[in-house]
Amino acid sequence: MACIQLLPLPARRLEGNVALITGGARGTGACMVKLFSKHGAKVVVADIRDQQGEAVQREIGTEYATYVHCDVSKEIDVENAVNTAISKHGKLDIMVNNAVIIDKGKPSILDNDVTDFERVVRVNLVGPFLGTKHAARVMIPAKKGSIITIGSVSSSVGGVTTHAYTSSKHAIVGLAKNTAAELGQFGIRVNSLSCYCIHNQLAEEFFKLDDEGFSKVYSNLKGVALTEEDVAQAALFLASDESKYISGHNLAVDGGFTTINPIFGLFSQSQV
Ligand SMILES: NC(=O)c1ccc[n+]([C@@H]2O[C@H](COP(=O)([O-])OP(=O)(O)OC[C@H]3O[C@@H](n4cnc5c(N)ncnc54)[C@H](O)[C@@H]3O)[C@@H](O)[C@H]2O)c1
Repeated sequence: MACIQLLPLPARRLEGNVALITGGARGTGACMVKLFSKHGAKVVVADIRDQQGEAVQREIGTEYATYVHCDVSKEIDVENAVNTAISKHGKLDIMVNNAVIIDKGKPSILDNDVTDFERVVRVNLVGPFLGTKHAARVMIPAKKGSIITIGSVSSSVGGVTTHAYTSSKHAIVGLAKNTAAELGQFGIRVNSLSCYCIHNQLAEEFFKLDDEGFSKVYSNLKGVALTEEDVAQAALFLASDESKYISGHNLAVDGGFTTINPIFGLFSQSQV
């Protein structure tokens, strides 16, 4: 039997699918909502920024996008968001745990408050736990589904962002692996997607960088800058059947940042 069938990719790669994207009111989440709906998915947009979430719904149209107020740190809200997908569209095929917050960067752990640490962990880790749990609740009977949690380079290396953010982003990789181990028996795939710094509002605010500052941020891969759409395209891959045998994986979208250590600089002087 031929192993390669030269069939074109479907133009709309999520046709007939229903997705829930947390933190979909702005930034990368909003970009995913737009890309997924362009590919035929009906998307539930879950966020606490009601005005921005409703604006995304208006832009896409209510046939393809439904905004629901949802604080991912509250189980009742996450349960309700998943139930909205079921009551409106009858199923949930794709769950993207994308919502995030970050605390203020403080150079010493001695200045880090436990309340700030817990606040970040509640959104960035408890949120994906609740999202995965309630997505699984409706995906198990359907015996299919793709759950994606958005990580960061701070999911695998230290020293880039705060203790709370780094801890939460490391932990979501463990959560994705453990739930992939459990949910594989039901045909449900669970993955994480860990990206490098994107020039957007969150990074601008945290790193306090303007356009010029961003252009000087280190990148292992030269001549290209990571965008929200690049991350959305990678999420589309993990959501679609193109990745139908990929589960328990942490997909790095970081130009090699987390796999190399540039300190010795063996290749930094090489001339092409
Ligand atoms: N921006 C970057 O440079 C960068 C780098 C690496 C990873 N990431 C990851 O990408 C993902 C998206 O980040 P972004 O840059 O688009 O951030 P963003 O701040 O633009 O968007 C985050 C969204 O999450 C929502 N949110 C916050 N708290 C919430 C809560 N309790 N309940 C529901 N929604 C809530 C916000 O309202 C916002 O719409 C995150 O998981 C982040 O960790 C971003």
